[in-house]
Amino acid sequence: MIIAVDGPTASGKGTIARGLARHYGLPHLDTGLLYRAVGLHVRNLGGNPDDPLDARRATDFPDRLLTDPTLRQEAVGALASRVSVHKDVRAALLDRQRAFAAQPGGAVLDGRDIGTVVAPHADVKLFVTASVEARARRRHAEMLSRGEDVSYDAIRTDLISRDARDRNRAEAPLIEAADAILLDNSDMDAAQSLAEAIRLVDATM
Ligand code: C5P
Repeated sequence: MIIAVDGPTASGKGTIARGLARHYGLPHLDTGLLYRAVGLHVRNLGGNPDDPLDARRATDFPDRLLTDPTLRQEAVGALASRVSVHKDVRAALLDRQRAFAAQPGGAVLDGRDIGTVVAPHADVKLFVTASVEARARRRHAEMLSRGEDVSYDAIRTDLISRDARDRNRAEAPLIEAADAILLDNSDMDAAQSLAEAIRLVDATM
């Protein structure tokens, strides 16, 4: 069984994907980490994330970057969003994601284009979303708990520009697959949101 979980930044798709993987005993890939690793590597190399060649070169990042806590930083998320617009970057990361999805027992993948590009034949596609305010509040609380001192307004502004860049890019934009199930969790906490996701997946089987 392949489960695709897509949605915008801070929608809770990662938490849902991890929870679904645990519930169904499937391996999980957070594909955002791959784009974050490219963003971090381009910075480490002194390259320009907006330059297609520099960004393409950074897809050769060392595997150890995938476990670097720096990856979770807001600034690296913004770099990831910039490198992810380049066609060659997306192409370079595609095989790795498809190989993960093709494991014999199935897998859960979360990202922006899993249901549309990486695994268009996924058995279940969830599109997880929430209002900008709900997402900004969650991201703000998460950052404060990690000791990162950022204002709510700065986070909200960054979310809006990240959404716009992810939705409006030419290559694999963030968009609901025609056969995706929408899960709006603006008024749910993490546990309710996972329970609803499990209910939706069970209902399709
Ligand atoms: O999900 P996360 O915030 O870690 O993703 C960081 C950035 O990587 C996103 O803003 C998006 O631009 C990009 N991304 C993508 N396709 C994916 C996963 C992430 O373009 N499948």
